[in-house]
Amino acid sequence: MRIRFLALIAVALAGAAGAFALVWRPAMPAQAEAQSFDPALIAKGRELAAVGNCIACHTVPGGEAFAGGLAIPTPFGTIHSTNITPDRETGIGVWSLAAFTRSMREGVDRAGNHLYPAFPYDHYRLVSHADNEALYAYLMTRTPVRQDALPNDLVFPLGFRPLIAGWKLLFLEPAGFMPDPAKSDEWNRGAYLAEGLGHCGGCHTPRNGLGAQIADQHFDGGEAEGWHAYAINANSPAPIPWDRDALAFYLRHGWHEVHGVSRGPMAEVTGNLGGLPDSDIEAIAVYVADVMGEPSPERRQQAERLREEVGGPERTGGDADTLAVPPDVAGMPGAALYAAACATCHESGRPLPYGGLDFRLSTAVNADNPQNIVTVTLFGLPPADGEASSVMPGFAGALDDRQVADVLAYMRARFSSGTAWPDVAEMTRRTRSGEHKVVVRPSDGIERAPLNVGVEVGP
Ligand code: HEC
Ligand code: HEC
Ligand code: HEC
Repeated sequence: MRIRFLALIAVALAGAAGAFALVWRPAMPAQAEAQSFDPALIAKGRELAAVGNCIACHTVPGGEAFAGGLAIPTPFGTIHSTNITPDRETGIGVWSLAAFTRSMREGVDRAGNHLYPAFPYDHYRLVSHADNEALYAYLMTRTPVRQDALPNDLVFPLGFRPLIAGWKLLFLEPAGFMPDPAKSDEWNRGAYLAEGLGHCGGCHTPRNGLGAQIADQHFDGGEAEGWHAYAINANSPAPIPWDRDALAFYLRHGWHEVHGVSRGPMAEVTGNLGGLPDSDIEAIAVYVADVMGEPSPERRQQAERLREEVGGPERTGGDADTLAVPPDVAGMPGAALYAAACATCHESGRPLPYGGLDFRLSTAVNADNPQNIVTVTLFGLPPADGEASSVMPGFAGALDDRQVADVLAYMRARFSSGTAWPDVAEMTRRTRSGEHKVVVRPSDGIERAPLNVGVEVGP
């Protein structure tokens, strides 16, 4: 940890000494007048804001839309999102389009302060001017909310914003999207959305010690809100490889019959993508499927076998199923707990999204990182307010750390060919106590932004 800070300081000093011009950014004049916007532009901005998932980070669950204040845990401390409603004092009401565009492309606020890359401008820099204009129109026509920003709680000396300029010098690439002429228009549209506003890599790409995404490990698995965001490249741990159709279905509906329900931060993403036209969802699926690549013949064969097994007769009757478990696995301490606490839903044959997935298909059980399965077992999937959603009870009150570890060890042995997970009891303890912070969300996205199309908001 210490080395990281020293490195950061060194970077900052280099940045400060070598490039004062880079550190210093001018303030931009306040927007004096009330503005009016074309309703079609506002509607387009609403769609784009959904792709960018702006509401998820800028809204405290249950709080006022876009008013900020969400605590975002990072390895460097907690950063609070800010108020991006058009309130003129505490929000961005006096920001001009130029100031807004600069923040999206360069991570600088209207006053000229550098913003933390917890605001994913390292992705949003790709957003076109036309799309920024629509986003601006949408945000400027939301209900203004008076709410001051909360102070951040960052490790010393990262509270000092000019340091961010050094970070940008190293890691922030120039603004604007460069299409790949060798690929189809659909692929390029998908790349533009996924790499830019969709910022899939913001969660799915691992980061280095300075919090920047590692370019040559694109989509290789990362972290978000205390969850593990699985690899979505050739290293995807999904037992049945994802393909374009499965991705499109999952991104559109938030679940897929052989991949399960999207959870945690991903539930927000799929919830928000729900408003996009099919053509854009398809484009993202085309792009991501291409990044994943064709599965190897072996992987394909394995998946075929698994499909047959899962669809096969031993899944329908409880007795036959028990017979299929090898005796050394059946004798594990978690077996009885599993049968009592989990099998009722996960072997009921009730179809998704309301039934539980057959664990042989589960990425959570097959992945090397057990964080998400620990989280789901402890806290379950909470119901969405007044809406249908996939629900699972949490077992934090019923199972102690050892019992959770036993159940998960049993599931790992029975339903995957992976090696045993180490230290699950300790991970369970840290997750339960909040030492490892996770944000638990219903698998349905939180409340959507009110549309308000055509409403003009003045000072
Ligand atoms: C992953 C979380 C996250 C997402 C997603 C996100 N933001 Fe932010 N945003 C932040 C954080 C955190 C800050 C505050 C950064 C700081 O204080 O340096 C911020 C700051 C901003 C600011 C600067 C506001 C100010 O007063 O300085 C703007 C403008 C903004 N975001 C717009 C957006 C838009 C538009 C979207 C969607 C396209 C979006 N954000 C999506 C986390 C996020
Ligand atoms: C805010 C963080 C975040 C963003 C942004 C995000 N994801 Fe995810 N994603 C996650 C997390 C966390 C999971 C694992 C959740 C779970 O346990 O199911 C996940 C799961 C997935 C899965 C399921 C993987 C599997 O094998 O089960 C796919 C596919 C996926 N994401 C694709 C995408 C795509 C495509 C985008 C961009 C449009 C995207 N994600 C953006 C956090 C994110
Ligand atoms: C009351 C029904 C119910 C019970 C009991 C239950 N679950 Fe679930 N579980 C669900 C539903 C519904 C889902 C969402 C669909 C899905 O993705 O499997 C789910 C999802 C999951 C997932 C994500 C699977 C994936 O990869 O998509 C895991 C892991 C999980 N449950 C573990 C457990 C464990 C461990 C137990 C026992 C300690 C348990 N569940 C008990 C209903 C239940």
